[in-house]
Amino acid sequence: MPLRDMKAVVTGGPTREWLDPVRFISNPSTGKMGLELAAACEGRVRETVFIHGPVEAGLVAGRSFRCISVDTTSEMLEAVLTELEENMVLIMAAAPADYSPVKKSETKIKKGSNNLTIELEKTPDILKEVAAKKTRSRMAKVITVGFAAETNNIEEYALGKLREKSLDMICLNDVSRLGAGFASDTNIVTIFARNGEKIELPVMPKREVAARILDEIESRLPGYLT
Ligand code: CTP
Repeated sequence: MPLRDMKAVVTGGPTREWLDPVRFISNPSTGKMGLELAAACEGRVRETVFIHGPVEAGLVAGRSFRCISVDTTSEMLEAVLTELEENMVLIMAAAPADYSPVKKSETKIKKGSNNLTIELEKTPDILKEVAAKKTRSRMAKVITVGFAAETNNIEEYALGKLREKSLDMICLNDVSRLGAGFASDTNIVTIFARNGEKIELPVMPKREVAARILDEIESRLPGYLT
């Protein structure tokens, strides 16, 4: 099936895990990379859905594709699983929070002793849950693309994620380099396909990175869908 007949679900931005009504754990992801990917999908796929965590309202306002706003990692998981269907591409550019406080206080935690210990528990790994659902529901035609934001041992970690999350492709992002990563308008991405192929992109505006990622997905579709 050609890309133009497929649905694309793109995630972007951070998620938040609340400690109390006024405090949360999160990260500096802005959602720009995800948004550019969703925008790049428009016109190239049948339908685009952008699932995003808390991002600037202006980023999603007036977009022609469907945008679903979520807050926590569990909410993002639920939204992604709801949108999952055969013949689609899922691009997980979001940076979901990996840990959540075990206890969420219903009232503001008051300042007390000098030290405060907060117990955290893992949030669900969305891509791993998607891989499990694909197996359970025999969904062979869901192409999954992940991102790996790394600061050290970058290739080793990215290839580990490609394998452990059963991905078709992973986009490695060395966030320690100038011009790459979170709040930047540019990115430096190396793509690894599941057959071990490596495509190194130079520093580029996120819009161009998004178009290149889609080109790489599209050119591999015949192999991925068999
Ligand atoms: N991801 C996910 N569910 C999570 C965390 C991350 O699906 N709970 C996805 C991200 O959207 C990304 C990929 O997994 O596509 C890798 O995310 P990253 O934050 O780099 O890695 P983690 O799996 O969280 O591992 P670590 O934080 O140890 O590097």
